[in-house]
Amino acid sequence: MLELAQQIEDARQFIASEFDTAPAAGLILGTGLGGLAEQIETAATIPYEEIPHFPTSTVKEHAGQLVCGTLSGKPIVAMEGRFHFYEGYTMKQVTFPVRVMRALGAETLVVTNAAGGMNPQYALADICILEDVINLMGDNPLRGVNDDNLGPRFPDMLEPFDQELVAKAIETAREHKLPFQKGVFVGVAGPNLETRAEYRMLRLLGSDVVGMSTVPEVIVAKHAGMKCVGFSIVTDMCLPDALEPVEIEKIVEVAGIGGERLAKLIPALVAQL
Ligand code: HPA
Repeated sequence: MLELAQQIEDARQFIASEFDTAPAAGLILGTGLGGLAEQIETAATIPYEEIPHFPTSTVKEHAGQLVCGTLSGKPIVAMEGRFHFYEGYTMKQVTFPVRVMRALGAETLVVTNAAGGMNPQYALADICILEDVINLMGDNPLRGVNDDNLGPRFPDMLEPFDQELVAKAIETAREHKLPFQKGVFVGVAGPNLETRAEYRMLRLLGSDVVGMSTVPEVIVAKHAGMKCVGFSIVTDMCLPDALEPVEIEKIVEVAGIGGERLAKLIPALVAQL
């Protein structure tokens, strides 16, 4: 067995010893999604540092634990806190938990993040249902030797986000009268926010929201044959001609408002898996 596959298996075995149900979905809960975490009927909470080969989280807004249990009656595993490329982790480390979710049996990845809104139609705390991604992070989690048992050398990205799940997310948002946008997410390395010239460029490239996560996780999920659905919460407006200084506290506060909306939408979506 190749080294990565062995590490995935070690982590899988460890988690399965605490929660031995195949999850219907893996969830990555970004900033502001604490309310959603509370809705999980928890069977096991595993701090990342206990899981073999998991990196440990350094961002204080993130708890850094794997919550295993049921959401809307479906078995799930949820990352409370994720690993960011800007923290210094490699792309392989950032995406290792997605590999483990897949190994546990999850066929769907639900990924969330806090993002900057570049589409002038958007407002603070809007939910953006992701339709596509652009990888501008300058690296790729699939770089290096490919393990054909984990996925193909050249995975296609026709549908980074599963069309059916996106349609269901839209329908569910409408049913629950939750305001939402649809858009393209561009992933950047960070950790600095972008310059005005960069926002102008990113907008010209066809993106609506910008953030420092999600793209590597989606690439690996697709490589592993998972279906993805993704949501951004617009935590700050990134309009090059009306740019204001951002305060992390404000971002976290706005993420909480959007997070309350997602805490209604995601459980209703998971119920349909
Ligand atoms: N850029 C700008 N604003 C943001 C980001 C980002 O990457 N993430 C959250 N708000």
